[in-house]
Amino acid sequence: SEREAFQTAFMAWYDEHRRDLPWRQNQEPYRVWLSEIMLQQTQVQTVIPYYERFLATFPTVEDLSAAPEELLLKTWEGLGYYSRARNLQKAAKQVVDDYQGKWPQTSAELEKLAGIGPYTAGAIASICFGEVVPAIDGNAFRVFSRLLKIDADIVNPKNRSIFYDAILPLIPKDRPGDFNQAVMDFGSQVCTAKNPTVGDTELAPFFRSYQDGTLLDYPVKTKK
Ligand code: ADE
Repeated sequence: SEREAFQTAFMAWYDEHRRDLPWRQNQEPYRVWLSEIMLQQTQVQTVIPYYERFLATFPTVEDLSAAPEELLLKTWEGLGYYSRARNLQKAAKQVVDDYQGKWPQTSAELEKLAGIGPYTAGAIASICFGEVVPAIDGNAFRVFSRLLKIDADIVNPKNRSIFYDAILPLIPKDRPGDFNQAVMDFGSQVCTAKNPTVGDTELAPFFRSYQDGTLLDYPVKTKK
């Protein structure tokens, strides 16, 4: 089927182009969660040194939950959006106090933790626990609106389910975390907002908007 052909080509692209990032060294939820929170408003290259320093200072979720606020904020300094750091410690305390230090393993449970929305919950659940669930961020909106010519306005939160329903059947059951990270890499390196190079890849035949010359018409966003 076209779906299987896309899956095979997409995962092959990832296997060839996958970036070697510090949070991809293992699938410990503490490490993956920390990276996803840092990456919410900050670029990959900026995050890397902060990520290493933060983990050296707070090696475990228990260390973070017990950290003095001053040290926490000092270690976060430079990343901005300090509510992220405060939520980080709130969630660490939830994991330690409410879950006995054992991370919840489903996206639905993960969403109950401070600072974890549907995207972050999907990323952690798929990468760490193999749940077949999309992680829908700006990259995913761009990649799948262009792949499938989805005309739904991505600014309207009600349209999120349209993307969720379209992406879910494309996820390979044996590699959900890799699939979601492939979307992040393909979206940030190839299927970019400006100057996308989808046409130079083996994925070109699958991108309906590329085939009819409308790639840059997607994603559809209402003008502010
Ligand atoms: N952006 C958000 N999450 C990411 C991840 N896990 N890898 C690379 N870029 C990302």
